[in-house]
Amino acid sequence: MERKTGHRAPGAGVRKPKHSQSEAAAEVVTAPELRAAKGTRRLVMVTAVDEPSARLADQAGVDIVLVGDSLAMAALGRPDTLSVTLDEMIHHTRAAAAGARRALLAADMPFGSYQASVAEAVRNACRLVALGGARAVKLEGPRAEETAAIVAAGVPVIGHLGLTPQSVHRLGGYRVQGRDTEAAFRLVEQARSLERAGAFLLVLEAIPAPLAAAVTRSVGIPTIGIGAGPSCDGQVLVFADLLGLSDTPAPRFVRRYGDLGRVIRDALAAFAGDVRAGRYPAPEETYPTPPGLASALEKRMEGE
Ligand code: KIV
Repeated sequence: MERKTGHRAPGAGVRKPKHSQSEAAAEVVTAPELRAAKGTRRLVMVTAVDEPSARLADQAGVDIVLVGDSLAMAALGRPDTLSVTLDEMIHHTRAAAAGARRALLAADMPFGSYQASVAEAVRNACRLVALGGARAVKLEGPRAEETAAIVAAGVPVIGHLGLTPQSVHRLGGYRVQGRDTEAAFRLVEQARSLERAGAFLLVLEAIPAPLAAAVTRSVGIPTIGIGAGPSCDGQVLVFADLLGLSDTPAPRFVRRYGDLGRVIRDALAAFAGDVRAGRYPAPEETYPTPPGLASALEKRMEGE
């Protein structure tokens, strides 16, 4: 008879309560619901790169799980976001989709996937939805035409203005944007045009707090800040930054809510120490020996 090893896939055997279709639908955060939330409550967005990070964010009750192209630095060991491909985004989005059961799962359109033509932008947004399981996509920059076309294809769009890391070379580095009056006014106009194009949320990255407040007042869609001060309708942080998993100095706006890097390192060092000292595995971590097996083995070994 085959012996059960007790080894199982994470979460296997945990049965979710059965819901009727309408109950299940009511639990899922939707793009129209988030758009309508402006002025009623602050929205919470967190990035995720795989099933565990998306599941934990979802269980913590965040509104939006974003598979950001920052996965390049957070999970792939790359220096910037520019080399992330659409296939890599789809791969990670699909993994995160398995964890984000209630929160709205959004995916970044990576560099090069929407710049060449509007038709390509629509095609690639649809791939993130169809193959990755994203329920919205995010595009960097004042891309009103692409936004309108993707929305017309049935995919909710999140805009992203201010510091747009995919344009790092044009911007001359990761600098705070909208610092002079002209640039600030331009950004307000770009925000309005993204709203007119049908974006349902707007991420504002690394801009002065009064400009973020002005944009937030100027548009009817919620703004989500990252390094944009307290007046936005919501905030987003990168999972690895928030939890102390990043290896690089954190930007000014990051607040660390955990030191998981240290927790994980300490746990792994304790495991290594136990293995090397013969403390792991203990008898209770070892399968019981069938009667007679140990002595039969010993006899056989003696005879050899
Ligand atoms: O990729 C990312 O992490 C982002 C941030 C603005 C959240 O786009």
